[in-house]
Amino acid sequence: MVATKHVPVLVREVLSMLVVRPDGNYLDATFGGGGHTRAILENIGESAKLLAIDRDPDAVERGKQLTAEDSRVETVHASFDQIADVSRRIGFEQFDGILFDVGLSSDQLEDGDRGFSFQKNGPLDMRMDPTDGKPASDWLNTASVQAIATVLRKFGDERNARAIANAIVRARPLSETQELVEVISRTCKTPETNKHIATRTFQAIRIHVNDELSQLRKGLRNAFELIGHGGRIAVITFHSLEHRAVRRQFSQWVDSSMPARMPIRGVSKGPMKFVERGLTPKRQETERNPRARSAMLQVIERVQ
Ligand SMILES: C[S@@+](CC[C@H](N)C(=O)[O-])C[C@H]1O[C@@H](n2cnc3c(N)ncnc32)[C@H](O)[C@@H]1O
Repeated sequence: MVATKHVPVLVREVLSMLVVRPDGNYLDATFGGGGHTRAILENIGESAKLLAIDRDPDAVERGKQLTAEDSRVETVHASFDQIADVSRRIGFEQFDGILFDVGLSSDQLEDGDRGFSFQKNGPLDMRMDPTDGKPASDWLNTASVQAIATVLRKFGDERNARAIANAIVRARPLSETQELVEVISRTCKTPETNKHIATRTFQAIRIHVNDELSQLRKGLRNAFELIGHGGRIAVITFHSLEHRAVRRQFSQWVDSSMPARMPIRGVSKGPMKFVERGLTPKRQETERNPRARSAMLQVIERVQ
């Protein structure tokens, strides 16, 4: 078994809102260490099915091991934008519950070779799927100051975006995470309280390299196609850009099937209703698992 260090968040809350039919079909779109999948499996019957998806080959390997142990589970390597195609290809037409627990797993973050951590040295890669696309270093070593600054501002809310972007361009080529940390430390002298000086830059680059917000929006649209009547879509997000992207899409489906810009919005009722608009973990959970501190759960149900 490829062991996992990942501690899943909001498990009890996810189970109570997602598992609506014990004999239903479920999709875990972010298998990771498999914590949520295992919890769902313990709460569904023998005739239920679960499709586990992840874009990270290491997570998929873990999922395949679970598939070998439990015939209710299928595991597929795919990203959010492929969920509808993949599901139909292997015979899942509709689901009763779909879960997204987005962002990084502790296994990805704590493996220095993946390049996500500013606390461990490793190649500046940061891809969730190292078999697809280009490592972060390729982009950092070729992008313009303007392009880098825009990403740091937009995805990291980094107030020193321009200065850091200039320093990166002056210091290139960069190939390792600690080189990038040194560039940031030389440029920004005063860290924010409770945050490592490189936190915002690493977050921004990672979101850009993995096209995370666009993936999330596409994943939600795929889930909308696949969720059956009475079925639920649950999404756990970890920062304000993600919280907002989910809230905006969910509100649009709840208010109306019309795009938010149309004047008719709010008049016709939409195909979904809110089950949970934004639940955060209790103190006991965040004390046990500090990663849960920024988590938020939003859930909708198909009513039409
Ligand atoms: C927070 S972890 C999930 C942890 C999991 N719920 C558990 O209990 O162990 C997020 C996982 O989602 C995967 N992921 C993130 N974005 C993805 C995407 N666009 N497509 C597919 N998988 C994605 C990551 O590779 C990672 O393994």
